[in-house]
Amino acid sequence: MNPVRIIERKRDGEANTPEEIKFVVDAAAGSGQMSEAQLAAWCMAVVLRGMNLDETANLTAAMAASGETVDLTGLPKPWVDKHSTGGVGDKTTLVLLPVLAACGLTCVKMSGRGLGKTGGTIDKLESVPGFRTALSIEEMISQAKDIGLALTSQTPRLTPADGTLYALRDVTGTVRSIPLIASSVLSKKIAGGADIISIDLKCGSGAFMETLPEARELAETMIGIATRLGLKLGIEITEMDQPLGRCVGNRLEVIEAAEVLQGAPGRLRDLCVELGSTALEMAGMSSGKVAEVLDSGAALAKAEEWFEAQGADVKLSDVKDLPKAQFFYEISAPQSGWVKRVDAGMVGEAAVDLGAGRRAKGDNVDPLVGIEVLAQVGDRIEAGQPVFRIHAASEAKQDLSRAIEFVEPETPALPLILGQLSTE
Ligand code: URA
Repeated sequence: MNPVRIIERKRDGEANTPEEIKFVVDAAAGSGQMSEAQLAAWCMAVVLRGMNLDETANLTAAMAASGETVDLTGLPKPWVDKHSTGGVGDKTTLVLLPVLAACGLTCVKMSGRGLGKTGGTIDKLESVPGFRTALSIEEMISQAKDIGLALTSQTPRLTPADGTLYALRDVTGTVRSIPLIASSVLSKKIAGGADIISIDLKCGSGAFMETLPEARELAETMIGIATRLGLKLGIEITEMDQPLGRCVGNRLEVIEAAEVLQGAPGRLRDLCVELGSTALEMAGMSSGKVAEVLDSGAALAKAEEWFEAQGADVKLSDVKDLPKAQFFYEISAPQSGWVKRVDAGMVGEAAVDLGAGRRAKGDNVDPLVGIEVLAQVGDRIEAGQPVFRIHAASEAKQDLSRAIEFVEPETPALPLILGQLSTE
């Protein structure tokens, strides 16, 4: 195999063969047969020329096989992995994992840290004193056997090729490519061992995919890969033009997830019920069970078991009593009107400025800071009513005036679900 020829063929818009793709993936996993410069050049050629579905499926399968895979044999079926492509205020995993486990599914999940405006589940859980986010594969399986769920940060033992390629893409302007994103996400899901994969594909100003046509293209690519590789995949394209729920910021989001697990209503609960119901339907179970375990306290009890198993020093329902950020202030509506827009991208950027997220890999995050968003699209707000509540580490004030827009006459709430696709 000639690495330069593989890159040139992609550069010229040809399809790479399965053998060529495996050669690239083996190199990313450490074979030494391509330099980092060559791997990055190949990624850029893919960004510019794309890949057909067969190539993308071959890339996904090769990346999934580039390291170990989690073997869930012996654990109660079905095995479900839930994944979100990331958004502002997206704490659905903290609710859905215990919900699905309380419904009798086995959930073993690897999560990432946040980068830029979209937060990461690992950062949220690390805001809870004692919570261990780095479980070994063996610990994960053993915990899932005991309580039905386990969550860990990514380990280089799984999909090492994706680890190398993602780090290179991050610094070479090659993240935004549908075949590269789809193969990166699905290879990790395959290596995670689940037999049902449920994806929440976020779309809007607070997400990777800002427009519906882009989100649909990514969803269709993932379905195409799943069909070729025999995976059971359900995708929901969900609204991410406004932050999800009330809180943006690590510990604040854990507190809000606890509220939903204790029965609080609202858009976050509605989304979790929707996503959870779809996962249960794919597992051949009754979708009504999701609301039932939220209302009965069974999901909260499962979440408390989970927190204890992963070493949390406090109960999930007591996280609200932990220390808060040092400074606190509210921003009020300058006028009365119907809320037409709460810009998730701007709120996410403001949360990063406060220290809730990182600009570059390796930056520290402040677990306590963040923003409570007190108005949603479709709400009627009176002049002077608080619309944002800021939790900060310093007295410097955030200007969020351009992140919210008021209009007359009445504006409807945004739809929660923008599209649904599945391999069924
Ligand atoms: N998330 C991933 O895991 N991979 C990508 O390429 C983009 C988002």
